[in-house]
Amino acid sequence: MSLWNKHAIFEKNSILLLIGVLIVISIGGLVEVAPLFYLKSTIEHVEGVRPYTPLELAGRNIYVREGCYNCHSQMIRALRDEVERYGHYSLAAESMYDHPFQWGSKRNGPDLARLGNKYSDDWHRRHLENPRAVVPGSIMPAYPWLAKTELDLNHIDQHMKVLAIEGVPYTPEMIEKAASDAKAQGTDDDPGAADLVKRYPKAQARAFGEKGRLTEADALIAYLQHLGTQVDFKVYDDKANLR
Ligand code: HEC
Repeated sequence: MSLWNKHAIFEKNSILLLIGVLIVISIGGLVEVAPLFYLKSTIEHVEGVRPYTPLELAGRNIYVREGCYNCHSQMIRALRDEVERYGHYSLAAESMYDHPFQWGSKRNGPDLARLGNKYSDDWHRRHLENPRAVVPGSIMPAYPWLAKTELDLNHIDQHMKVLAIEGVPYTPEMIEKAASDAKAQGTDDDPGAADLVKRYPKAQARAFGEKGRLTEADALIAYLQHLGTQVDFKVYDDKANLR
Protein backbone atom coordinates (compact mmCIF):
# COMPACT_ATOMS: atom_id res chain seq x y z
CA MET A 1 0.00 0.00 0.00
CA SER A 2 1.60 3.25 -1.05
CA LEU A 3 1.48 6.35 1.13
CA TRP A 4 -1.31 7.79 -1.06
CA ASN A 5 -3.57 4.89 -0.28
CA LYS A 6 -3.37 5.23 3.51
CA HIS A 7 -6.60 7.24 3.60
CA ALA A 8 -8.34 3.95 2.88
CA ILE A 9 -8.00 3.25 6.63
CA PHE A 10 -10.30 6.22 7.32
CA GLU A 11 -12.67 5.47 4.51
CA LYS A 12 -13.31 1.96 5.73
CA ASN A 13 -13.88 2.84 9.39
CA SER A 14 -16.50 5.47 10.17
CA ILE A 15 -15.42 6.00 13.80
CA LEU A 16 -11.80 6.62 12.78
CA LEU A 17 -13.05 8.98 10.07
CA LEU A 18 -15.11 10.88 12.65
CA ILE A 19 -12.14 11.23 15.01
CA GLY A 20 -9.95 12.33 12.10
CA VAL A 21 -12.49 14.95 11.07
CA LEU A 22 -12.74 16.27 14.63
CA ILE A 23 -8.96 16.59 14.92
CA VAL A 24 -8.65 18.43 11.61
CA ILE A 25 -11.52 20.81 12.43
CA SER A 26 -10.13 21.59 15.89
CA ILE A 27 -6.74 22.51 14.46
CA GLY A 28 -8.43 24.80 11.94
CA GLY A 29 -10.59 26.31 14.67
CA LEU A 30 -7.65 26.92 16.99
CA VAL A 31 -5.60 28.59 14.28
CA GLU A 32 -8.50 30.91 13.40
CA VAL A 33 -9.91 31.70 16.82
CA ALA A 34 -7.06 31.56 19.36
CA PRO A 35 -5.08 34.57 18.03
CA LEU A 36 -8.16 36.80 18.36
CA PHE A 37 -7.81 36.59 22.14
CA TYR A 38 -4.27 37.95 21.99
CA LEU A 39 -4.23 40.39 19.09
CA LYS A 40 -4.73 43.96 20.23
CA SER A 41 -6.26 44.82 16.85
CA THR A 42 -9.21 42.44 17.24
CA ILE A 43 -11.23 45.35 18.56
CA GLU A 44 -9.98 48.59 17.11
CA HIS A 45 -9.94 51.32 19.72
CA VAL A 46 -12.23 54.16 18.72
CA GLU A 47 -12.07 57.64 20.16
CA GLY A 48 -14.92 58.56 22.47
CA VAL A 49 -15.77 55.08 23.69
CA ARG A 50 -15.76 55.04 27.49
CA PRO A 51 -17.16 52.78 30.23
CA TYR A 52 -20.73 53.48 31.41
CA THR A 53 -21.26 55.97 34.21
CA PRO A 54 -22.67 54.35 37.38
CA LEU A 55 -26.13 55.75 36.56
CA GLU A 56 -26.04 54.45 32.96
CA LEU A 57 -24.82 51.10 34.28
CA ALA A 58 -27.69 50.97 36.78
CA GLY A 59 -30.08 51.78 33.92
CA ARG A 60 -28.55 49.08 31.79
CA ASN A 61 -29.12 46.58 34.60
CA ILE A 62 -32.80 47.53 34.54
CA TYR A 63 -32.86 47.12 30.75
CA VAL A 64 -31.52 43.57 31.23
CA ARG A 65 -33.78 42.84 34.21
CA GLU A 66 -36.92 43.86 32.32
CA GLY A 67 -35.92 41.83 29.27
CA CYS A 68 -36.00 44.73 26.80
CA TYR A 69 -33.53 42.70 24.68
CA ASN A 70 -36.33 40.24 23.91
CA CYS A 71 -37.82 42.77 21.51
CA HIS A 72 -35.00 45.22 20.81
CA SER A 73 -31.62 44.72 19.16
CA GLN A 74 -28.63 47.00 19.61
CA MET A 75 -26.70 46.13 16.49
CA ILE A 76 -27.04 48.02 13.23
CA ARG A 77 -25.71 45.89 10.42
CA ALA A 78 -23.74 47.34 7.51
CA LEU A 79 -26.71 46.99 5.18
CA ARG A 80 -28.11 49.92 3.28
CA ASP A 81 -31.69 49.74 4.61
CA GLU A 82 -30.50 49.48 8.22
CA VAL A 83 -28.04 52.35 7.92
CA GLU A 84 -30.71 54.52 6.28
CA ARG A 85 -33.23 53.76 8.99
CA TYR A 86 -31.09 53.73 12.14
CA GLY A 87 -27.84 55.53 11.35
CA HIS A 88 -24.18 54.51 11.15
CA TYR A 89 -23.64 50.75 11.45
CA SER A 90 -22.43 49.54 14.84
CA LEU A 91 -18.71 49.27 15.54
CA ALA A 92 -17.26 46.45 17.65
CA ALA A 93 -15.65 49.06 19.89
CA GLU A 94 -19.04 50.50 20.78
CA SER A 95 -19.92 47.40 22.78
CA MET A 96 -16.42 46.61 24.02
CA TYR A 97 -17.39 47.36 27.64
CA ASP A 98 -20.71 45.48 27.47
CA HIS A 99 -20.85 42.43 29.72
CA PRO A 100 -23.07 40.85 28.57
CA PHE A 101 -23.55 42.61 25.22
CA GLN A 102 -27.09 43.55 24.21
CA TRP A 103 -26.93 42.96 20.46
CA GLY A 104 -30.12 40.92 20.71
CA SER A 105 -31.53 38.61 18.11
CA LYS A 106 -35.07 39.83 17.69
CA ARG A 107 -36.69 43.06 16.54
CA ASN A 108 -40.30 43.20 17.61
CA GLY A 109 -39.48 46.84 18.21
CA PRO A 110 -36.86 48.96 16.45
CA ASP A 111 -33.10 48.70 16.95
CA LEU A 112 -31.94 50.94 19.80
CA ALA A 113 -28.21 51.17 19.05
CA ARG A 114 -28.44 54.86 18.03
CA LEU A 115 -31.35 55.87 20.21
CA GLY A 116 -29.52 58.49 22.31
CA ASN A 117 -30.83 62.07 21.91
CA LYS A 118 -33.52 60.97 19.43
CA TYR A 119 -36.35 61.76 21.87
CA SER A 120 -36.69 63.98 24.94
CA ASP A 121 -36.50 62.56 28.47
CA ASP A 122 -40.16 63.45 28.82
CA TRP A 123 -41.03 61.36 25.75
CA HIS A 124 -39.21 58.37 27.26
CA ARG A 125 -40.96 58.82 30.61
CA ARG A 126 -44.36 58.83 28.97
CA HIS A 127 -43.43 55.96 26.64
CA LEU A 128 -42.26 53.74 29.51
CA GLU A 129 -45.33 54.64 31.57
CA ASN A 130 -47.63 53.73 28.67
CA PRO A 131 -46.29 53.30 25.12
CA ARG A 132 -49.79 53.84 23.64
CA ALA A 133 -49.81 57.38 25.06
CA VAL A 134 -47.13 58.48 22.56
CA VAL A 135 -47.24 55.79 19.84
CA PRO A 136 -50.84 54.80 19.13
CA GLY A 137 -51.11 51.10 18.32
CA SER A 138 -47.77 50.24 19.94
CA ILE A 139 -47.52 46.64 21.15
CA MET A 140 -44.76 47.43 23.63
CA PRO A 141 -45.66 46.56 27.24
CA ALA A 142 -45.96 49.36 29.80
CA TYR A 143 -43.43 49.66 32.62
CA PRO A 144 -45.24 52.01 35.04
CA TRP A 145 -43.43 50.76 38.14
CA LEU A 146 -40.05 52.08 37.00
CA ALA A 147 -40.93 55.72 37.70
CA LYS A 148 -42.39 54.76 41.08
CA THR A 149 -39.38 52.79 42.31
CA GLU A 150 -36.44 54.54 43.95
CA LEU A 151 -33.16 53.53 42.33
CA ASP A 152 -31.16 51.13 44.49
CA LEU A 153 -27.49 52.15 44.36
CA ASN A 154 -26.28 49.84 47.11
CA HIS A 155 -24.47 47.39 44.87
CA ILE A 156 -23.45 49.50 41.91
CA ASP A 157 -19.84 49.86 43.15
CA GLN A 158 -19.56 46.09 43.50
CA HIS A 159 -20.86 45.64 39.98
CA MET A 160 -18.16 48.03 38.75
CA LYS A 161 -15.53 46.08 40.67
CA VAL A 162 -16.52 42.88 38.88
CA LEU A 163 -16.51 44.65 35.51
CA ALA A 164 -13.01 45.95 36.30
CA ILE A 165 -11.89 42.35 36.76
CA GLU A 166 -13.34 41.61 33.33
CA GLY A 167 -11.21 44.38 31.83
CA VAL A 168 -13.42 47.48 31.94
CA PRO A 169 -11.08 50.34 32.91
CA TYR A 170 -12.89 51.47 36.08
CA THR A 171 -10.38 53.08 38.44
CA PRO A 172 -10.54 52.69 42.26
CA GLU A 173 -11.68 56.33 42.39
CA MET A 174 -14.57 55.67 39.98
CA ILE A 175 -15.63 52.66 42.05
CA GLU A 176 -15.41 54.55 45.32
CA LYS A 177 -17.51 57.43 43.99
CA ALA A 178 -20.04 55.22 42.21
CA ALA A 179 -23.12 56.10 44.25
CA SER A 180 -22.35 59.81 44.54
CA ASP A 181 -21.56 60.01 40.79
CA ALA A 182 -24.91 58.40 40.03
CA LYS A 183 -26.72 60.95 42.16
CA ALA A 184 -24.70 63.80 40.67
CA GLN A 185 -25.65 62.70 37.16
CA GLY A 186 -29.33 62.09 37.78
CA THR A 187 -30.38 64.96 40.05
CA ASP A 188 -29.57 68.47 38.93
CA ASP A 189 -29.14 69.79 42.45
CA ASP A 190 -25.86 67.98 43.02
CA PRO A 191 -22.65 70.00 42.64
CA GLY A 192 -20.61 66.87 41.80
CA ALA A 193 -21.68 66.85 38.14
CA ALA A 194 -18.61 68.73 36.86
CA ASP A 195 -16.37 66.22 38.57
CA LEU A 196 -18.35 63.40 37.00
CA VAL A 197 -17.74 64.68 33.47
CA LYS A 198 -14.00 64.59 34.13
CA ARG A 199 -14.24 60.90 34.90
CA TYR A 200 -16.82 60.15 32.20
CA PRO A 201 -16.42 62.53 29.23
CA LYS A 202 -19.66 63.77 27.65
CA ALA A 203 -21.82 62.26 30.41
CA GLN A 204 -25.27 63.85 30.24
CA ALA A 205 -26.07 65.17 33.71
CA ARG A 206 -29.54 66.51 34.54
CA ALA A 207 -32.74 65.53 36.30
CA PHE A 208 -34.03 62.84 33.95
CA GLY A 209 -37.30 62.74 35.85
CA GLU A 210 -38.71 64.54 38.86
CA LYS A 211 -36.28 66.88 40.59
CA GLY A 212 -34.85 65.65 43.89
CA ARG A 213 -35.71 61.99 43.24
CA LEU A 214 -33.77 59.27 41.51
CA THR A 215 -35.92 56.44 40.17
CA GLU A 216 -35.32 53.34 38.10
CA ALA A 217 -36.91 55.12 35.13
CA ASP A 218 -34.35 57.95 35.45
CA ALA A 219 -31.45 55.48 35.33
CA LEU A 220 -32.96 53.64 32.37
CA ILE A 221 -33.51 56.91 30.49
CA ALA A 222 -29.91 58.01 31.23
CA TYR A 223 -28.79 54.74 29.66
CA LEU A 224 -31.11 55.07 26.64
CA GLN A 225 -30.01 58.69 26.01
CA HIS A 226 -26.38 57.53 25.98
CA LEU A 227 -26.87 54.73 23.42
CA GLY A 228 -24.92 55.27 20.22
CA THR A 229 -23.72 58.77 21.12
CA GLN A 230 -20.10 57.99 22.01
CA VAL A 231 -18.42 58.05 18.63
CA ASP A 232 -18.26 61.19 16.50
CA PHE A 233 -18.82 59.60 13.10
CA LYS A 234 -17.73 62.67 11.15
CA VAL A 235 -14.25 62.19 12.60
CA TYR A 236 -14.35 58.39 12.51
CA ASP A 237 -15.40 58.07 8.87
CA ASP A 238 -12.84 60.64 7.74
CA LYS A 239 -10.05 58.76 9.48
CA ALA A 240 -11.19 55.43 8.07
CA ASN A 241 -11.58 57.04 4.62
CA LEU A 242 -15.19 56.01 4.44
CA ARG A 243 -16.35 59.29 2.98
C1 HEC B 1 -42.93 42.86 23.54
C2 HEC B 1 -41.88 43.56 22.86
C3 HEC B 1 -41.22 44.76 23.51
C4 HEC B 1 -40.57 44.83 24.72
C5 HEC B 1 -40.39 43.72 25.75
C6 HEC B 1 -40.03 46.15 24.81
N1 HEC B 1 -40.32 46.87 23.71
FE1 HEC B 1 -39.74 48.75 23.29
N2 HEC B 1 -40.79 48.74 21.56
C7 HEC B 1 -41.51 47.67 21.09
C8 HEC B 1 -42.21 48.07 19.88
C9 HEC B 1 -43.14 47.19 19.05
C10 HEC B 1 -41.87 49.42 19.62
C11 HEC B 1 -42.35 50.34 18.48
C12 HEC B 1 -43.61 51.09 18.91
C13 HEC B 1 -43.31 52.09 19.98
O1 HEC B 1 -42.51 53.02 19.74
O2 HEC B 1 -43.87 51.97 21.08
C14 HEC B 1 -40.96 49.79 20.70
C15 HEC B 1 -40.34 51.03 20.77
C16 HEC B 1 -39.41 51.38 21.74
C17 HEC B 1 -38.69 52.63 21.75
C18 HEC B 1 -38.75 53.72 20.70
C19 HEC B 1 -37.66 53.44 19.67
C20 HEC B 1 -37.64 54.37 18.50
O3 HEC B 1 -36.56 54.54 17.94
O4 HEC B 1 -38.68 54.94 18.15
C21 HEC B 1 -37.92 52.61 22.88
C22 HEC B 1 -36.97 53.69 23.36
C23 HEC B 1 -38.16 51.36 23.57
N3 HEC B 1 -39.07 50.64 22.83
C24 HEC B 1 -37.56 50.99 24.75
C25 HEC B 1 -37.85 49.80 25.41
C26 HEC B 1 -37.32 49.48 26.72
C27 HEC B 1 -36.38 50.35 27.51
C28 HEC B 1 -37.83 48.27 27.06
C29 HEC B 1 -37.63 47.51 28.35
C30 HEC B 1 -37.99 48.23 29.56
C31 HEC B 1 -38.65 47.81 25.94
N4 HEC B 1 -38.64 48.79 24.98
C32 HEC B 1 -39.29 46.61 25.90
C33 HEC B 1 -41.58 46.41 21.65
C34 HEC B 1 -41.06 46.06 22.88
